[in-house]
Amino acid sequence: MDHHPIQPTNVEHRFGNDEIIVSKTDTRGWITYANDIFCKISGFREDEMVGKPHSLIRHPDMPRTVFKLLWETLKSKREIFAYVKNIAKDGGYYWVFAHVTPTLDQSGEIIGYHSNRRVPSKQAVAQISKIYEALLAEEKRHADPKAGLAAGEALLVKTLKDAGLTYDEFVWSLQE
Ligand SMILES: Cc1cc2nc3c(=O)[nH]c(=O)nc-3n(C[C@H](O)[C@H](O)[C@H](O)COP(=O)(O)O)c2cc1C
Repeated sequence: MDHHPIQPTNVEHRFGNDEIIVSKTDTRGWITYANDIFCKISGFREDEMVGKPHSLIRHPDMPRTVFKLLWETLKSKREIFAYVKNIAKDGGYYWVFAHVTPTLDQSGEIIGYHSNRRVPSKQAVAQISKIYEALLAEEKRHADPKAGLAAGEALLVKTLKDAGLTYDEFVWSLQE
């Protein structure tokens, strides 16, 4: 959703180290379940989220490159860890460290997805927000959305190469 109806503010919403924000989706990424902690931090009631695409809480500061990686990984039946900045109903924001997994049926077909989100470390947010800012700027430098996404991906690959780490190693190096 490019034109998000919620106007972002700079107010941060916090949640506890012992809290886990949980949601489940169908195969399209439409929300089928939201736990109480998700409702509390997002400001949405469960019935306002269930049946809506997960991009309901997409923050405009998030680069598309990250969601492309997320969907590619999930569709290849692998789990992914990612830092995500989300928007709350009142325009505030909250950073999460998400663990997203595909749910498979007995024949190995994907029947949905599940995300558990914890509080990210302070240094992870400080570093990843700079990287996401650079990715977003790279994406926006191109008038053509496809070219922007390709440029964002190339920058992500370069960032990892410069760090000498795989994506997973990089993500965990920030959280520690
Ligand atoms: C289980 C699951 C959880 C997700 N959680 C989030 C989330 O917390 N925030 C978010 O912006 N997108 C989340 N997404 C990705 C969205 O489906 C979507 O790709 C993203 O918001 C970008 O929106 P767009 O593709 O409309 O630009 C999640 C997807 C899945 C499958």
